[in-house]
Amino acid sequence: MRFDVLTLFPELISTHMDFSIMKRASEEGIIEVVTHNPRDYTLDKHKKVDDTPYGGGAGMVLMPQPYVDCYEAVGVNKGGNNSEKCITIMMTPQGEPFTDQISNELAEYDRIIILCGHYEGFDERIREIIKPREISIGDFVLTGGELPALCIIDSVSRKIEGTLGKIESAHDDSFSDGLLEYPQYTKPREYRGLKVPDVLLNGNHKLIEEFRLEQKLIRTKAKRPDLYEKYMKDNK
Ligand SMILES: C[S@@+](CC[C@H](N)C(=O)[O-])C[C@H]1O[C@@H](n2cnc3c(N)ncnc32)[C@H](O)[C@@H]1O
Repeated sequence: MRFDVLTLFPELISTHMDFSIMKRASEEGIIEVVTHNPRDYTLDKHKKVDDTPYGGGAGMVLMPQPYVDCYEAVGVNKGGNNSEKCITIMMTPQGEPFTDQISNELAEYDRIIILCGHYEGFDERIREIIKPREISIGDFVLTGGELPALCIIDSVSRKIEGTLGKIESAHDDSFSDGLLEYPQYTKPREYRGLKVPDVLLNGNHKLIEEFRLEQKLIRTKAKRPDLYEKYMKDNK
């Protein structure tokens, strides 16, 4: 899986890739993250990539030329083979909310191109020309698209075989079956008077499975009634 990230701040992306699971997955060639800076493509002699909004208002808007030229230079099927499955995503608070289901869908692609905005966001013509899938990571506004892009890269990478070793398996993670994960415990058996439930210590896998499912249902109902209702409806 290859991610091409268009960003004015490439170090924000590369820093995350230098640690832990993401670093190992990159070193093993399971994922590849390549950054491209639209500033390198601007035709403006002062290297400008943004300007004031027409109609007035605060902040700076990202100009279409550097982004579109940068996109076309790295875009679909360039630098890859023609049969690769590729998608372009724009990070924007106006997009569809990112979910585990979208993450699963994205993990089916060979290549994902991600456009990160900054300042007041994109000139509308960038949307009109590139026609990306627009994704938001939630109903709040951040200063730039790099953190949202990393959320997508990280979450999608976890779905790709080999990224997680056996010990970090995503199999039982929250959302994988529509429920939140069961409570987890590790050593010691007792901490500040709080004990690990006996059922987890007896080695009876059937009982452990039953306990975990029960806990998943209890905590999903309490914390995310919306997910609980959907799960109960889908599993009638
Ligand atoms: C300050 S925001 C621009 C917000 C824009 N003026 C609006 O109100 O829709 C700058 C950039 O950060 C990114 N961004 C901010 N919040 C985001 C979110 N919740 N999800 C995805 N991207 C976000 C986008 O790439 C956006 O272009």
